[in-house]
Amino acid sequence: MDWGMQNRLSQVIKPDGHCFFMPIDHGYFQGPTRCLEKPAETIKPLLPFYDALFVTRGVLRAVVDPANTKPIILRVSGGTSMVGKDLANEEITTSIEEVIRLNASAVGISVFIGSDYEKQTLLNLSRLVNEAEKYAIPVMAVTAVGKELEKRDVRYLGLCCRIAAELGARIVKTYWCKDFDKVVKGCPVPVVMAGGPKCKTEQEVFEFVYDGLQRGAIGINLGRNVWQNPYPVAMAKSLRAIIHENVTVKQAQDIFNEAKSIGAKPQFKE
Ligand code: 5RP
Repeated sequence: MDWGMQNRLSQVIKPDGHCFFMPIDHGYFQGPTRCLEKPAETIKPLLPFYDALFVTRGVLRAVVDPANTKPIILRVSGGTSMVGKDLANEEITTSIEEVIRLNASAVGISVFIGSDYEKQTLLNLSRLVNEAEKYAIPVMAVTAVGKELEKRDVRYLGLCCRIAAELGARIVKTYWCKDFDKVVKGCPVPVVMAGGPKCKTEQEVFEFVYDGLQRGAIGINLGRNVWQNPYPVAMAKSLRAIIHENVTVKQAQDIFNEAKSIGAKPQFKE
């Protein structure tokens, strides 16, 4: 592997082989998502716990301090919205020159497999890989399902991850599912888990993150289940411990309860 590629990957994947990405890219199709209305305020107390930030160029330039941040994974697909016809109809939004100008450590792009825009989004991924590899910039493919959350089973996600890797993604981000090890085994590049809509309890989140890691995921890209929790700092601290300190679900819950009780005030209402 080229030195530049190794160097960039090691900025976002830590020496223990694990990673904790903070996505704040939701606005690119959802607008001002709850608890992300002012991204600068949302991320300020959370940045120390994360390894990298997944963000669009607009929010990056507008609110992220270039002198005091974490490695950047730039979201470079889009062109759709929650109120438009089809969330899958994405294109590449950001040129490779812009990616380099912003000193991104990696780029992220969605593919919508099984949708009317399967071919278009897979070719978006291929074109992005063609450009990004010239400059040793790793591409993270996001196996997106739009509003069809029920699609997230092992057969479908296994298929999506493998296709994304075959087209050249260096990392694949997908949803956790039952029998997650089958997804990981069929994918020749590292797999990171996304969060999805907020779970009912913290324990549910700790459980799927722990299970996914035991079954071979290298980490998480988790947004709403952290920053929409009333105690986002306690949540980030507990998840970091699962990822980088190999703690159990019970230990993560104890870390959460302790962080909650010693001063971490609820930042947001449920
Ligand atoms: C949005 C994304 C997000 O990065 C991804 O969904 C993770 O965020 P969350 O944990 O809130 O689901 O790709 O399209």
